[in-house]
Amino acid sequence: MYGSDSVNDDSERTAFRKTEKKYKLYYDSNSRSSKKKKQPRPVDLSEVIDFKSILESFARDGDLPTGVSKLDYHFDGPLFCLDDWPGFYFIPAALNIEEQCRWIKESLVSFPQPPNRTNHNAHYGAIHDLFNAAKNRQVLVKEEIISGEDNSIAVDLRWSTLGLQFDWSKRSYNVSLPHNKIPDALCQLAKKMAAPAMAVGEEFQPEAAIVNYFGSGDMLGGHLDDMEADWSKPIVSMSLGCKAIFLLGGKSRNDEPLAMFLRSGDIVLMSGEARERFHGVPRIFTDTENAEIVSLEKQFSDEDDICYLEYIKTSRININIRVLLFSLKN
Ligand code: OGA
Ligand code: MN
Repeated sequence: MYGSDSVNDDSERTAFRKTEKKYKLYYDSNSRSSKKKKQPRPVDLSEVIDFKSILESFARDGDLPTGVSKLDYHFDGPLFCLDDWPGFYFIPAALNIEEQCRWIKESLVSFPQPPNRTNHNAHYGAIHDLFNAAKNRQVLVKEEIISGEDNSIAVDLRWSTLGLQFDWSKRSYNVSLPHNKIPDALCQLAKKMAAPAMAVGEEFQPEAAIVNYFGSGDMLGGHLDDMEADWSKPIVSMSLGCKAIFLLGGKSRNDEPLAMFLRSGDIVLMSGEARERFHGVPRIFTDTENAEIVSLEKQFSDEDDICYLEYIKTSRININIRVLLFSLKN
């Protein structure tokens, strides 16, 4: 996962950085409390665009807020775009609950399997059956004590890569690394979802996917995905698990970003001009009221699924699927 902005004084002052700080999870320590329990600092969410409520009011009376348009596409539900942000598409609740569960399980169990690389490769080499091992608390588990109030055991998995492998140490794709093809079902899903952002007659051909795993307090700092050769092709980005805030900025970090919620099952497409915009995830929500994962929790209520339930209660997974159009010279 990308770190937050490389911290120098300038980045502290950009509009993107300010908005990131506005939404980031901070804890207020209440020194008067005998338990010294830290509380998440309340944050004003009134300016965060909420495509779920936009969808609901649209379904109710056909109204859309200014600047938001609906595209007719052959999905079950509508697809929204922002008039002033061409190339950006939002598909609320694109994945039903069964599909969400499926991709959560795959993200935890099969995607991190070698030869796919994960953040653990650099330190430990390839590890098989990471999630099962962690489930049994044998390896790679860490006691995550978040401000003394959360003792959940979490797999310290930050990212895994599918298809052509992204080398995080060099921030570039390395075609010589061994890799499996992206699972066909994921390719098919990405193709279907990417279609509205493709030129007529062209099909999205996924070559690589990066899977990000977020725990409480994690963020994805503002960045551009600029390692792919052809920016006209969309990145298909799926959200699973706890709700998050996504920032969509401008071509400079000095442009003020828009904030919007990303929920489990939402899909975002970034293509064309939107590929040139800084974006990031300043926080996820793991509290019951804001995480909005009740239906996922119900779905994982079987005893066999308890490990997924425990994981997802405090986590978010993002799968972003890309076309590289690799010139194969690197
Ligand atoms: C990325 C990215 C967004 C998200 O991994 O490049 O922008 O929603 N992810 O997590
Ligand atoms: Mn990105």
